[in-house]
Amino acid sequence: MRITEDIRYIGVNDHEIDLFEGQYEVPLGMAYNSYVVRDYKTAVMDTVDRNFTHEWLDRLSAELDGRKPDYLIVQHMEPDHSANILTFAKLYPEAVIVASAAAFRVMNNYFGTDFADRRIIVNDGDTLPLGKHVLQFVTAPMVHWPEVIMTYDKYDKVLFSADAFGKFGALDTVDPEGWACEARRYYFGIVGKFGPQVQTLLGKVGGLDIRTICPLHGPVLQEDLGYYLGLYNIWSSYDVENEGITIAYTSVYGHTKEAVEKLADMLKAGGCPKVSVTDLARDDMPEAVEDAFRYNKLVLATTTYNGEIFPFMRTFIEELTERNYQNRTVAFIENGSWAPQAAKHMRKMLEGCKNIRFAENTVRIVGALNETSNAQLKALADELTAEYEKPSAEDLAKQDPKALFKIGYGLYVLTTNDGKKDNGCIVNAVMQASSSPSRIAVCVNKQNYTHHIIQQTGKLNLNVLSVEAPFSVFQEYGFVSGRAVDKFAGKTVERSDNGLIFLDQYCNAYLSLKVEEETDLGSHGMFLCSITESKVLNSTETMTYSYYQSNVKPRPPKAEKAADPAKKRWVCTVCGYIYEGDELPADYICPLCKHPASDFEPLE
Ligand code: FEO
Repeated sequence: MRITEDIRYIGVNDHEIDLFEGQYEVPLGMAYNSYVVRDYKTAVMDTVDRNFTHEWLDRLSAELDGRKPDYLIVQHMEPDHSANILTFAKLYPEAVIVASAAAFRVMNNYFGTDFADRRIIVNDGDTLPLGKHVLQFVTAPMVHWPEVIMTYDKYDKVLFSADAFGKFGALDTVDPEGWACEARRYYFGIVGKFGPQVQTLLGKVGGLDIRTICPLHGPVLQEDLGYYLGLYNIWSSYDVENEGITIAYTSVYGHTKEAVEKLADMLKAGGCPKVSVTDLARDDMPEAVEDAFRYNKLVLATTTYNGEIFPFMRTFIEELTERNYQNRTVAFIENGSWAPQAAKHMRKMLEGCKNIRFAENTVRIVGALNETSNAQLKALADELTAEYEKPSAEDLAKQDPKALFKIGYGLYVLTTNDGKKDNGCIVNAVMQASSSPSRIAVCVNKQNYTHHIIQQTGKLNLNVLSVEAPFSVFQEYGFVSGRAVDKFAGKTVERSDNGLIFLDQYCNAYLSLKVEEETDLGSHGMFLCSITESKVLNSTETMTYSYYQSNVKPRPPKAEKAADPAKKRWVCTVCGYIYEGDELPADYICPLCKHPASDFEPLE
């Protein structure tokens, strides 16, 4: 891969790795980057992980095109980059190894040699001319190992940034979440402790004219570099990136979880722009660490355990404190069947952190939520959302949800494949967003399995339903989850070039889409897609949402009397499901067809 006329990419992608650095899940794999700078002299920038020796050497050889390398620049000695130094040195005995003095000491530890007869030790500001390219070295101790150097190519204005600006994910896989999400998880997991050192580094490279950043992991960055540098500045200064609240919890029998879910609903209703909830025992803990540093408020909820706190919560707080957690508001929910005391232990663990404000309200649950602890939850929610603007009753009165029904929609079956089985689901929020380049926006409820599959695979088929589609099609694809059933079991299917099923019955066209970007919209994720294939199947009219409502959907059955006459009832206008209660929650999702509260209407 060509980075510039003289700089080539010779890195590798790892899809076999189970845990990066022995602890980080990398569902999209991992890239170990390496580069060659070809000039009068040739420099190789780092090696790769030991499982890719031959692949890397083949790529190197192809880019050398018969020449011998003059230098191996070793920027970082962690084995995902240094494992092949000795192999390289044996294969190219005339090449000189260039690194910091600390790096040569680490080489001695790994390889039993510090290459004393064929090395150049470089310090901050030293240069190495290759011809028209002149490499200038920038020391970056503890970003995130002591021996790290970065390298600036003055000619092409490229910064080889070692691990900085890296991210999780192989380079042959689309990351539907873009750069920042996995780069942030990578940063706070691996580099987060070393914010002051990253700040020093940003000060040093701030004066350089950088056009391209070539990190040791993740994509080469060539446009809008201010965006990446800006995020690194926020992250390394422990500043708040986004307004929002992270709730990290453990729950043994579900009572703490119930409290957390109630609090999350109250925080959202209180105007909090983002509420992120993590079950520390079951979800990815580095994601929770990332969110704790991303947002400005943190709620820790756990049970009292062995007289202290639940183990996953202890680990989580240690993950924060060892990364210099600071500048945030922290609140506590404690649970204990006879003597809750988790809050005092959690608070003690955080007391050494800089600039932490503890919320005035703490929620104390004794076994299960009751009137007292529910009131404490409400008080905590009010405290944490005090500064957020809440929609006034007057504003709410101006919003007629029925106006949303006047927006025109088509109806579609999205077909996907999770690697083991095919799946299909019904969506309506689809539009052609632009014509040049051609982009299709597809919105999918985040609770749907299809959303998960698209995030993982980056591809989907959009099957345009025609007015011939009977109600059974909607029942088949829309009312059951692909997590629970195989919707295509026993069916004869046709596939497009991307390997996914397209439907030739009850549809008038299909489009094969590739995800280019994803935006988190709250309840839904929006996938902005390019088209890889499209075909008209027949001239039957497209099924619109209003046609479905008027002609396809059976009338809701005459509702039987409510079980409790004091309760109000709402009916899902899509599938007829009836909700009974005092109020229909604004974020209610129909358990049958997964449509939101806006698709319900009062029954009486
Ligand atoms: Fe990518 Fe710190 O090794």
